[in-house]
Amino acid sequence: MTHVTYVPVVLMLSFFQLKTLFSAGLARRQPDVLDDLRLHNDLQVTKKESQVILYWNNNLTKEETEKYSVKYILSYTFFDTSQERKERLEEKKKKIRLELHTGFKAKVKTQVFMKETEDLIKESGWTECTYRSPPVYIQNLSCVIYNISFFNCSWHIKAEDPADVQYFFSYRHTEKDFECQQYIKNARNKNIGCHMKDISFQPPRKIFLNISVVDLRNNSRRVSYYKGFIPQKIEKLNPPINVSVSLENRSIKIHWKPPPTIGSGEKKCFKYQVKITDSKIVDVTEEKYEYPLLRPAKKCTAQVRAKKEVCITNKIWSDWSEPVIIYDATISVRLDSPSSFQKHFTSEVIGERSSICSL
Ligand SMILES: *[C@@H]1O[C@H](CO)[C@@H](O)[C@H](O)[C@H]1NC(C)=O
Ligand SMILES: *[C@@H]1O[C@H](CO)[C@@H](O)[C@H](O)[C@H]1NC(C)=O
Ligand SMILES: *[C@@H]1O[C@H](CO)[C@@H](O)[C@H](O)[C@H]1NC(C)=O
Ligand SMILES: *[C@@H]1O[C@H](CO)[C@@H](O)[C@H](O)[C@H]1NC(C)=O
Ligand SMILES: *[C@@H]1O[C@H](CO)[C@@H](O)[C@H](O)[C@H]1NC(C)=O
Ligand SMILES: *[C@@H]1O[C@H](CO)[C@@H](O)[C@H](O)[C@H]1NC(C)=O
Ligand SMILES: *[C@@H]1O[C@H](CO)[C@@H](O)[C@H](O)[C@H]1NC(C)=O
Ligand SMILES: *[C@@H]1O[C@H](CO)[C@@H](O)[C@H](O)[C@H]1NC(C)=O
Repeated sequence: MTHVTYVPVVLMLSFFQLKTLFSAGLARRQPDVLDDLRLHNDLQVTKKESQVILYWNNNLTKEETEKYSVKYILSYTFFDTSQERKERLEEKKKKIRLELHTGFKAKVKTQVFMKETEDLIKESGWTECTYRSPPVYIQNLSCVIYNISFFNCSWHIKAEDPADVQYFFSYRHTEKDFECQQYIKNARNKNIGCHMKDISFQPPRKIFLNISVVDLRNNSRRVSYYKGFIPQKIEKLNPPINVSVSLENRSIKIHWKPPPTIGSGEKKCFKYQVKITDSKIVDVTEEKYEYPLLRPAKKCTAQVRAKKEVCITNKIWSDWSEPVIIYDATISVRLDSPSSFQKHFTSEVIGERSSICSL
């Protein structure tokens, strides 16, 4: 279903003010050939599924279009954010993905440049329009893929959500559609999340989420949220595996292996953090970390966590690995005897977490 809305346009025909003409970047000695050029944009808005398409027009003649190089500045701000997005475009349209935004304010202006010199000769005033979407009752959508084949999404429902609407979740991946396996519900029996397992993700192919809002009185689908993304972007890795600790030459050596992942398992993709009881967290790019052991007095443990960074932008850290004991004062080890330092502790000797550790 496609709705076409013609939005009333506010025109600000502030052309050719001397101030603008002489501002930085403008060609000062350009003869005023364009004085009779009435730059003016017509903005139109079309809504299709979850995206809005803005179209505009200048009213330059064919000759003028051929003679000059014409560009547009588009600026838009979603109602619920303060960040203004600004783009310079050559085409006369822009698709804006609404996602969960309730609408936006947009404005466009035309700029005319000399073809040879790229000097800006004229620019129009801004033409503005405002788009309001039908009410969007969901907010704060977040999704995570974990343990290779599990997929969770959850969202919040605004207080003004009418009693008779329900939210349905599905997604498309590798040309197939999948329905939610298990809804998470709130006290009012509204679906506020979905839990799925045994899913085979095939990156880099995208997942397209589809959340439909259904009016239960007549079963009509009202608004749907639609978004595509690469699965690795929302992957929460398992903690690093086979974490082991050894004490050698008065230094602690911690080794581990990267966890399995749905995307590339190349070494360079992973980034790690190491936490030794109560000391500060250290960033590490290799699969090991060495720490000079100064004065082990109390029991202390090491933990490692991982995320992908180089191959994909991902903000989600894995959980910390189970604590592995580095030094336990109950095992008597003499500092001055290097041979007794060759003791090797692995995750099999995990103890309870301890809180004091002096290194
Ligand atoms: C461009 O639009 C303006 C304002 O509507 C109008 O006055 C002008 O005649 C138009 N110019 C051309 C070349 O159509
Ligand atoms: C992770 O996945 C494996 C294999 O599917 C399963 O055996 C295990 O229980 C899962 N672990 C968690 C914490 O869900
Ligand atoms: C995913 O959802 C299930 C079911 O609500 C929950 O038990 C699990 O902890 C969630 N896992 C993550 C990583 O969000
Ligand atoms: C979405 O999250 C923000 C920040 O945590 C919170 O203030 C807001 O109430 C949430 N929205 C809903 C509908 O719960
Ligand atoms: C989203 O899901 C609804 C209900 O299952 C379906 O009718 C609609 O076609 C889907 N939209 C897309 C873009 O796949
Ligand atoms: C369904 O019901 C709602 C509320 O009564 C109304 O706004 C909407 O237009 C109806 N849709 C259809 C397709 O009848
Ligand atoms: C992790 O340790 C287990 C048991 O020692 C071993 O079988 C496995 O190959 C190790 N995995 C990696 C990736 O080294
Ligand atoms: C310990 O350190 C000494 C001197 O720095 C070095 O010769 C020796 O190879 C080291 N041993 C190990 C196991 O790293």
